[in-house]
Parts: sequence; C-alpha cells; structure tokens
Amino acid sequence: MDSILVRGGAELHGRIPIAGAKNACLALMPATLLTEEPLTLTNAPRLSDISTMSLLLESLGADVQALEEGRRLALASHGLSSHRAEYEIVRRMRASILVLGPLLAREGHAIVSLPGGCAIGARPVDLHQMAMEALGAELELRDGYLHARAPRGLRGAEIEFPIVSVGATENALMAATLARGTTVIRNAAREPEIVDLAQCLRRMGAQIAGEGSETITVEGVDRLSGATHPVVVDRIELGTYMIAPAITGGRVECVGGSRALLASFCDKLEAAGITVEETPEGLATRRSGERVRAVHVVTEPYPGFPTDLQAQMMALLATADGVSILEERIFENRFMHAPELARMGADIEVHGGTATVRGVSRLRGAPVMATDLRASVSLVLAGLAAEGETRVARVYHLDRGYETVEEKLRACGARIERVRQT
Ligand code: UD1
Repeated sequence: MDSILVRGGAELHGRIPIAGAKNACLALMPATLLTEEPLTLTNAPRLSDISTMSLLLESLGADVQALEEGRRLALASHGLSSHRAEYEIVRRMRASILVLGPLLAREGHAIVSLPGGCAIGARPVDLHQMAMEALGAELELRDGYLHARAPRGLRGAEIEFPIVSVGATENALMAATLARGTTVIRNAAREPEIVDLAQCLRRMGAQIAGEGSETITVEGVDRLSGATHPVVVDRIELGTYMIAPAITGGRVECVGGSRALLASFCDKLEAAGITVEETPEGLATRRSGERVRAVHVVTEPYPGFPTDLQAQMMALLATADGVSILEERIFENRFMHAPELARMGADIEVHGGTATVRGVSRLRGAPVMATDLRASVSLVLAGLAAEGETRVARVYHLDRGYETVEEKLRACGARIERVRQT
C-alpha cells in the first residue's frame, strides 16, 4: 500500500486550485437515474469515491463516461437493467444509499444494501427510510438489504426530519421531483451541496423552492430531462488547504474558493489569529504571528462549523498557544486522529464528544495511520508542521477525497512525496 512521506518545517507559499466537491458530485451522479436523457456534470473531481459511484450506477445499467481526464462525467440511464445495489459496492461507500430515492421514483422499486458500520460511527439510514415511507413507499429489511416498493408511484408528502441529515435530504429531494403532488421537506439540510443538487434538478425540469433554507418545497413533475451542470467547489478541500499555511506559516491562495461556502470556518480561523483574505480568484490564508491562538470549536450542520474539517482543525490547534476545546456534535466517534496526533507529540484528551487540546510548541514526525479520509489529511497537515519525517500509511483513504494532495502541496513548497509500494 502507498504511503505519504512528509518532511516538516517548510513554510508554504503559492496557489492551490480547488476541485469540484466530492460530496456534491456523489449526490448529483445518482440524479441520472431520474431521467432517460443524458446528464453531464462538469468540474467533477477525480477521486476513487467517484469511480465507486460510477461502478454502482453501471451495475444498475447506467452508462458513465469519464471525459476530459475525469473532469466531465457523461451519464445516461436510457433503460435500467437492475434495481439492486449490491453490498459488494455499497459497503465501500455510504453515499451509495443515494440511489434509493431516484430508483424508487423512476422504477417504483429498489433493493439497496445497508451500508453497514463505518469508522466514524454507527451512521444508520432510518431517516432515508422514513422519507421514502412518507412518500408512500413500503420498505422492508431482508438479508441486509432494504427492499423498497412504490407500486402506485410516489406521492407528495410532508417530511419532517427529527435531525438534520445531508444524505436523507438529498434522497428525499430527488425522490420528490417525480412524486405526484407537493412535497414539503422540513428541517432540511442547508449545505451548499444540497443547493447544488437542487440547482441541477431544476435544470432537469424539477420544480423546487427553498433550497438552502430549512424548508424545501417540491412540486412533482411527470418527467425530467437531461442537463449539463457544473459541480460546486469543494468547501472541505478548500478548508483543508486553508489550514496548510496556518499550520506551517506562509500564505496560500485557494483558487476557486469563496468565503460564502465556509463562513463559520473562516471566522474560527480568524479568531485563531489567521488572516483570511478574499482575492479576485479565491481565498488566501496567511499566518502572521508565531503561533495560532487556542479557540473553541463546535461542529454543527451548515452553516455551522463542518464536521469534515474538525480533524484538520485539531491538527492546527495541536500547535496553538493555549488550550482549545473541540466538540463533535455530528458523529459519535470522530476523534480517531487524536491518538495518532498524540504519537506526534500532541497533547489531546478525549471525553465522549469533547476533545481538549493543549497546544505544544512543536510536533515531531512519526509513522502514523488513519481510519478515515479527513483524519488522514489531518495527519498530513500535522506532518507539514512537525520536526522531522512523518509517514502516513493507508493512503487509500486520502485518495477517496483529495486529488493529488502531494502535488498540490509540493507546488507551494512542501516536502512531501508518495511512496509507492507494490
Ligand atoms: C454527509 C457527508 C459527510 C459529512 C456529513 C455531515 C456526503 C457523501 N457525505 O454524510 O462527508 O460528514 O454529511 O456533514 O455528502 N443519521 C441518522 N439516520 C440517518 C442518516 C443520518 O441518524 O438515516 C445521523 C448520522 O449518524 C449523523 C447525522 O445524522 O449523526 C448526520 O449525518 P448525515 O448528514 O446524514 O451524513 P451523511 O449524509 O451520511
């Protein structure tokens, strides 16, 4: 397995282009199942999670062509050959559950494997299930698969989520576009990826209002058409690279970034003493003082501080002047990077969903590994700031969500390379 080798201590200066959002793209791709006409996504990221979603859609009979080195995805679902999402693919990626709504809406039935546990917590799918049932589907769990049927088609309904879920909102939104009548989704997720999906569905002819707010209203239509849609910028990749110069010193401009995508994160960086500057092409961060200041971070659904940037923020705060508190409110078990950071000299104490980080003046390089995507990149960031050499194992986690991470950082002066192992 490949690993990433980082020799820490170099300041970063330069520009990093930010790719299209993985999480938006993973929701946009299943929208192809809603129409017989072609759906083209531009600004797609080149990531292994995108290949996994392509495989899943192909297994259902969709045609997926990755053009322009994967930047443009041409999707078409003329006639579907299967409505069964197999465990073999679904277990690799939880976002596979996003085929449930579109399959049900278009075909009237779907069989989707349960995604199973994952490193950051139990992550059930009860809210997805609840939304489909509200729309008139019958669901049954058999042999590890959700069997869903809507023989008379889906009908519009009121769906009120007890907690905010990005994926369940996406599934409900897609399914509602072809349901008979009006659907009102309350306590909907407001993430930019939801807004992007709604915009794409509208280009396909869907009638949607209120995306980006807590209440989304959908008037069902008889059919959707094809469309071409650019994937929104990846705010998590953006936030990750904004932290890089904050942790090493220097200045990096993230091309394509905007403050609107990450307002609460930017506020927190500024509270820590980092300068965040809007530039004509994006967003630049710079560390002016010697060490960042300790801050209190609470992860929340959008527009709050994103859970997907919590690990990277912890790496930064590990070197802050003072004691920081990180409260994880979205996932119950998302501090697995803490003991790895501790191997590098960080002083972190975890109690339940709260981590207390006592900043140290210097981290030291060490061999580390991570169990999920954002945890992996937090270790790379820590390695950039550490004295000596850090080897991050299990790089396949990184490749799920970050395009050519070593090239992007090396272009700014980082001493980082991928060590290939066959
Ligand atoms: C999406 C993102 C992920 C991000 C997360 C929260 C994608 C592909 N992934 O994941 O990167 O970390 O949002 O911003 O977009 N829950 C239930 N029952 C359900 C569904 C969710 O209890 O049926 C819980 C989850 O366990 C979690 C919370 O709801 O505690 C939020 O999860 P959710 O927003 O659904 O996350 P995902 O859509 O899976």
